[in-house]
Amino acid sequence: MLSRMRQPVSQATKQWVSMVVNKSTQAAPSAGPVKIGTASQAIFNREQKYGAHNYHPLPVALSKGEGVYVWDVEGNRYYDFLSAYSACNQGHCHPKIVKALKKQADMFTLSSRAFYNDVLGEYEEYITNLFGYDKVLPMNTGVEGGETACKLARKWGYKVKKIPENEAKIVFVAGNFWGRTLAAISSSTDPDSYAGYGPYMPGFYIIPYDDVTALEEALQDPNVCGFMFEPIQGEAGVVVPQEGYLKKVRQLCTKYRVLMIADEVQTGLCRTGRMLACDHENVRPDLVILGKALSGGVLPVSAVLADNEVMLTILPGEHGSTFGGNPLACRVALASLEVLQEEKLAENAELQGKLLREELGKLPKEVVSVVRGKGLLNAIVIHTKHDAWDVCVKLRDNGLLAKPTHGDIIRFAPPLVINKAQMDECLEIITRTILSMK
Ligand SMILES: Cc1ncc(COP(=O)(O)O)c(C=O)c1O
Repeated sequence: MLSRMRQPVSQATKQWVSMVVNKSTQAAPSAGPVKIGTASQAIFNREQKYGAHNYHPLPVALSKGEGVYVWDVEGNRYYDFLSAYSACNQGHCHPKIVKALKKQADMFTLSSRAFYNDVLGEYEEYITNLFGYDKVLPMNTGVEGGETACKLARKWGYKVKKIPENEAKIVFVAGNFWGRTLAAISSSTDPDSYAGYGPYMPGFYIIPYDDVTALEEALQDPNVCGFMFEPIQGEAGVVVPQEGYLKKVRQLCTKYRVLMIADEVQTGLCRTGRMLACDHENVRPDLVILGKALSGGVLPVSAVLADNEVMLTILPGEHGSTFGGNPLACRVALASLEVLQEEKLAENAELQGKLLREELGKLPKEVVSVVRGKGLLNAIVIHTKHDAWDVCVKLRDNGLLAKPTHGDIIRFAPPLVINKAQMDECLEIITRTILSMK
């Protein structure tokens, strides 16, 4: 992890910052400033009245999206720097993905797995070839992917590793986030996620992230069947482990015969500048969980990839989902995977991400102490008079939507289709906003 130490501001940084500030006073960005009006307010009020209060959205009511842009009900345009938590890697309403959706929707949407359908096999063949695994198990949401991976690990633990019945253990890391089911929150270290929902799932153990000594100690227990982790922790605030961590995880999992389970729901599908974040260290997990951008943000599609030794431990009738593997989802997923490759979105994420971190790194360290991330999964730690929430509201006013992760962390994760001119404009908005609030 990068240090939060404050460093003196260099002359070059001062010059760059003053240049940006001057530029911003001369040329108003095309995307702002924004006025939130009565139509938006009516939407906030209705949700507040009739919806459960399990979210705290930034006050902006969106009604349209295209590529890197979204529009609110009053017609204000914004850069989207959240991408629906990395579900919209391919950009909002990608024409190829939407076309595939519409065409399939007119034909056939759901067979359930009680019957075969004519798209599932094509999708299964495509995705397993693309990622180099024997088999795929299709589900819907990311958290179902995580649940599926845990169930596979336990089955494998009993059937293959011969762990005594009901003794299997799965090791997780502190700061993980893989969703909101009871199993997922049972492995969480965030009280907002787990408090008040006990009792929790037995057989789950938590060690520190990015700590290979703790991992080796944990994996020596012969009843451990799996180690599940994110190659970069997204919801924890874009926590990037030290280089070599993924390789070491692979070595230790192999050494102690434990399944390496990579939760690539957020980091996968080109977000970090590679097809999978594990590709940064050329590491092949035993199980890969995908979700979010597997549909380009069009509908919930998730998947677990594994080889036969693991996948075939689950027999007919032992796991499934009414909607998992439906033809609509399969068509959309095929198109989404094609777009990632055709448009070279991993390469673009790598390029634009470097630019983003380089430019944000020039901000005074007493205002932005940390800039971290890989590809277009990034975060900054701010030290302004205002907290990250207020900074995000101001960013909204200036035409850019981002979400605070924790008190002083803001995540920057635009759609991977962003181009250099758009990135330049976004950097100008971010810099001007942050400096105006220091
Ligand atoms: C790494 C990771 N895994 C799993 C999930 C859960 O995905 P979903 O919200 O689709 O259930 C998330 C959601 O943010 C995530 O970031």
